[in-house]
Amino acid sequence: MTYDLRSAAPDRLSVQNAQPAGTTQAASVALAGVPSRAERSAPLMRLCDTLDAMFEACSHFPEPSHSTFFARSMRLALAGAAANPALLTAAQREGSIETYRRHLLAADPHGRYAIAALVWMPGQASPVHAHHTWCGYAVVDGTLSETVFEWRGEEECASATRTQARNRGAVSFVRGGRGAIHRLGNNSDAPAISLHIYGVAGTQMSTHVNDIVRTADTPALA
Ligand SMILES: [Fe+2]
Repeated sequence: MTYDLRSAAPDRLSVQNAQPAGTTQAASVALAGVPSRAERSAPLMRLCDTLDAMFEACSHFPEPSHSTFFARSMRLALAGAAANPALLTAAQREGSIETYRRHLLAADPHGRYAIAALVWMPGQASPVHAHHTWCGYAVVDGTLSETVFEWRGEEECASATRTQARNRGAVSFVRGGRGAIHRLGNNSDAPAISLHIYGVAGTQMSTHVNDIVRTADTPALA
């Protein structure tokens, strides 16, 4: 089954990459500008077409991310796109010395997903977080370190369970909720890049994805 929506779809990059003041991620991530149409790569367009087809195929599900087909297809789509060296432009591979940098690559005009590349310089890491929505990632270049946490409901905090290296090609997909809490970072001595897809509109990427949680070694607020 082939879906070619390129001619009919509105500009996937037309959604503004808003960063409201005071959001939880404002201090921890630098947002890059939205690239122009000319900067869209063929692999990125194919990824968008694949995602559109997945949503169409799962249209009978109240929540597509609960479908096994959706999860499996998302992992395959992430792996295929991340393995293509033409996915990202040079500008989309640029990092920041201040914090990890997020480049919005595409935003679904229907608000079903947003695609981003995250560039991690050595020593940079995300906060410990769960997710308000489904999300998936694949490592494009370099090696990331991922620490997985479990949620301790009675104490209302997260406790680390394991840390693993995530090398180029590693793929992950999780549904929203505190059943999947992690922290991604770059413990290597070289930059790393990851491709992320979130189940939100492009304008909500900074505010409706990460659910930052308290960890066991962080004092509770008085
Ligand atoms: Fe995450």
